[in-house]
Amino acid sequence: MILWAALGSLVALELIQRAARRRLKKRRISWASAFLHQGFVNQNHSGFNKHKTPDRFLPISLVPPQGRIAVALPPVPLQDRRFKSYNPAVFVIRDALYACVRCSSYTLTADVRLPIITENFLYTFATNRYRHIDLPETHRHAPALGFEDVRALVRGDDVLLVATAYNRQGVNQMHLLTLSTQDVLSEGSIRARRVLLLIPDPSLAGPERRQKNWAPFLDDDRLMFVYSVQPHIVLSCDEQSGLCEIAHTVHTDLPVQDLRGGTNLHLVNGTYVGFLHTTKPLQYDTYLYAFSATPPFQPVSFLDQQIFWARDWPIELPYVEFSTGFVILDRPEGTFWIVSFGQNDSRPLIAIMSASQGVEMLADGQRNLLTPDE
Ligand SMILES: *[C@@H]1O[C@H](CO)[C@@H](O)[C@H](O)[C@H]1NC(C)=O
Ligand SMILES: *[C@@H]1O[C@H](CO)[C@@H](O)[C@H](O)[C@H]1NC(C)=O
Ligand SMILES: *[C@@H]1O[C@H](CO)[C@@H](O)[C@H](O)[C@H]1NC(C)=O
Repeated sequence: MILWAALGSLVALELIQRAARRRLKKRRISWASAFLHQGFVNQNHSGFNKHKTPDRFLPISLVPPQGRIAVALPPVPLQDRRFKSYNPAVFVIRDALYACVRCSSYTLTADVRLPIITENFLYTFATNRYRHIDLPETHRHAPALGFEDVRALVRGDDVLLVATAYNRQGVNQMHLLTLSTQDVLSEGSIRARRVLLLIPDPSLAGPERRQKNWAPFLDDDRLMFVYSVQPHIVLSCDEQSGLCEIAHTVHTDLPVQDLRGGTNLHLVNGTYVGFLHTTKPLQYDTYLYAFSATPPFQPVSFLDQQIFWARDWPIELPYVEFSTGFVILDRPEGTFWIVSFGQNDSRPLIAIMSASQGVEMLADGQRNLLTPDE
């Protein structure tokens, strides 16, 4: 008798779990298909109405920018459940949206089995498809394998991916990986045409110094990086040798300390705009900033309110939102600012806001940097 009851409850438990898995699967599919609609988000899609907030997919914070939408990309379909998808880097080719998504055998707090393996996948929003990006192997004896936390830029026929990877000595170094836009558009296989080690100006760092979070931008097609925010150090790179020399240094007085590179920088209405992060253990906060488009690239806007792209306020810790990509998308419906980010090192998302919301944040940030007599 007792045995039958126990078996019965086991079966019931299994059925409940199955139903939960089905619900989860269904939800994922509805998110993905919303993307398929014109390759972008149709606000009338049923997925939006589920949360009774007609213009949003996920609960969002009460701090700026309000009224944006946060949308989850589907995870990379891998058999191995240890692999999580996160930190997407968005880019635009011919008005269509793509993202390079990091996939790695690592989770935020669980015990990590070394070495951590990272693979990168290209997501095409219009077709809802992932393709593996074939990159060279990194050093076999490093604590983590693969190219991590890609940032992306498009220049002519090239997609420039900037990523960090461990070298033989176990020290992170920056790399430039070049894909061709033809490969991205063709729906076939994708491999890096070229891999270049980026060498920081010797006055900045010896070979033992870890290099991460360089924030890339293009200045008249020249590859540049924000290497440090305070002081504001901008590097200019020679793409033959990989040497990145200091182009300009300006002293800054921003209200937040310990800022690091987040997204790439995008030229918006005459200034370079991007998103930075601060790191405390298991907590990443995001801030908007902008700097002048002409040397010495003086910061001109800093919004001193942290931004959570897809989370209610107050947040529960630990919580990591890591912004890795920023693009402007022109659509018949209007101009949008799109920020891509990883949530908790386990989900890839994008935040979509109207250009007017973005411009408003930028203006708020500009007022912060004006000195009283200006
Ligand atoms: C959404 O639905 C409303 C009413 O059903 C319609 O007027 C509107 O044009 C639709 N918007 C889009 C973007 O499809
Ligand atoms: C993020 O991960 C931490 C640790 O696993 C967890 O406590 C927290 O609830 C997660 N937050 C979200 C939004 O998933
Ligand atoms: C540039 O500023 C104008 C005026 O504020 C605004 O309409 C436009 O959307 C802005 N451009 C972008 C890309 O945000």
